[in-house]
Amino acid sequence: MKDILTAIFVTEMRKTTANMYRLGWDERNGGNISYLLDEAEVAEYLDLKKVIREIPTGFDAKPLIGKIFIVTGTGKYFKNVDEDPETNLGIVRIKEDGTTAELLWGFKDGGKFTSEFPAHMMSHMARLSVDPQNRVVMHCHPTNLLAMNYVHELDEAKFTHTLWEMCTECIVVFPDGVGVLPWMLCGTNEIGEATAKKMKDFRVVVWALHGVYGAGKDMDETFGLIETVEKAAEIFMLTAHLPRLNTIKDEDMVKLAEHFGVKYRKDFLRLK
Ligand code: 13P
Ligand code: ZN
Repeated sequence: MKDILTAIFVTEMRKTTANMYRLGWDERNGGNISYLLDEAEVAEYLDLKKVIREIPTGFDAKPLIGKIFIVTGTGKYFKNVDEDPETNLGIVRIKEDGTTAELLWGFKDGGKFTSEFPAHMMSHMARLSVDPQNRVVMHCHPTNLLAMNYVHELDEAKFTHTLWEMCTECIVVFPDGVGVLPWMLCGTNEIGEATAKKMKDFRVVVWALHGVYGAGKDMDETFGLIETVEKAAEIFMLTAHLPRLNTIKDEDMVKLAEHFGVKYRKDFLRLK
């Protein structure tokens, strides 16, 4: 059996959490990541018959039965993941009942998965139903995107349009736009269900006055998605109080979307 600390998926979790912390997206225990793993790959590092303990999830995730995820722990700080992955991360498998997580590795101090496990697992179910390649769900509190929530209307068409105007590549990176949920109590099945519903149409979902969820096929793509949205929000926050002299026009966005061959939300443009 190989040493799990040499597994690429553990390295990816260590590097990504460190990067997210460095960028200021994950203060204290803010943020969480879940990453769907390949069973055969995990079997190179762990005896899949050995369950350390069982943790009830409090919701039904039947479509994910048997699936294995590496996930950040609740109350754990992203800044600490790199130095102690076995305490701050865990590898869990959804048991046959669909409502229990079997711990296969990690959460060494008796901890458990993120309090946002419902939103993560429900988002995986939603994304997998529209894109079987989807493996990563990421939540964080990016500074400028959060600031934008306080000064911009929270209408998803208007919010998306403003972000698309801020960087030329935005409409290409998130042509499906940004879904927006109103402020809701976090860590609940309700916000999980609402997030998953949005995730059927969007790979980025803003939790108003809280943060953002991103989903994608791998760690780089998901990170890059949130990074691009946050960059656009930063440009917005740097310019919102200044007179606007220039902008990327809707017809320019159409040119971009067509040139790069992306399927974009035409109804989020205001073409006459
Ligand atoms: P956890 O520490 O439970 O992952 O919660 C952090 C967070 O961002 C809640 O939305
Ligand atoms: Zn949060």
